Amino acid sequence: MTTKKAFVCGHPIKHSRSPILHGYWIDKHNIEGSYGIKDIAPANIDSFIKSMKENAFVGGNFTIPHKEAAYKAVDKLDEAAQKIGAVNTIWFEGDLLVGGNTDAHGFTANLDQHAKGWDSNPQTKTAIVFGAGGASRAVLYSLIARGVSKIYLVNRTIEKVNNLAAEFGKTIQPKTIYEIETILSKADIFINATSLGMKESDKYPFDIGALKKTALVTDLVYTPLQTILLKDAKNAGLKTVDGLGMLLHQAVPGFEKWFGIKPEVTDELRQIIVKDLQPNT
Ligand code: ATR
Repeated sequence: MTTKKAFVCGHPIKHSRSPILHGYWIDKHNIEGSYGIKDIAPANIDSFIKSMKENAFVGGNFTIPHKEAAYKAVDKLDEAAQKIGAVNTIWFEGDLLVGGNTDAHGFTANLDQHAKGWDSNPQTKTAIVFGAGGASRAVLYSLIARGVSKIYLVNRTIEKVNNLAAEFGKTIQPKTIYEIETILSKADIFINATSLGMKESDKYPFDIGALKKTALVTDLVYTPLQTILLKDAKNAGLKTVDGLGMLLHQAVPGFEKWFGIKPEVTDELRQIIVKDLQPNT
């Protein structure tokens, strides 16, 4: 039997946790497979993608800065990738290279696992999405796909909000960062899709405690796992979900496409990654 080879490619890439994740599942399911790291410079990404077949890869993950290049290079896109405008997972259908975006799946599956019922009666639900970059696009797609009726989109740079609102339609209500205090009490779910929180010195320009007491707060940042936002939300008595589950769950569809088995996101796997995230280990 030939070894099925997959990879994660980015530039830089050495800190990716994807090899640990996929390696764990390859071992667990006794698969004749491998999952490696490819550091590919932007100038070489197109030729790398074109040579996947001749290099006998069954597929791979694409991360910063290659998600847009992967989007352009494939023969076919899944619906999420089309809407989000970025590809993070590639697989083959016959000779066709198919590009998908599993970040949206990762986002919703994380909430489904850790905040069951978060999307019940979605037509009554209001969300605040903070951030209007690449990650925000996956979040907007997910919330709209689950039927959330109103999404306030807030960002430091308002042009990006307006562009996303024009693209994603009337569910999106654009708000400037100065208006955020006026909408907090209306939201059922708050999502941080900015990179704020990665540095200890990061400060939020609002008080998360102004949310409804029943509101859910989730952060896409997972280094650190307990961001300042999540700590503040917890201190205010709010339910929180950290961002690590999104990383774990976004890996599932790719693994299934390449290796034919749908793997599980277990506590054991989460603990392995949590340990790897600790500084100085
Ligand atoms: P990603 O792909 O992770 O979304 P990105 O596309 O670079 O990364 O987007 C980063 C997001 O974090 C943006 O919404 C950015 O706001 P701007 O559009 O105004 O740049 C937001 N962000 C980064 N640093 C920020 C800060 N100090 N305060 C507020 N927002 C910040």
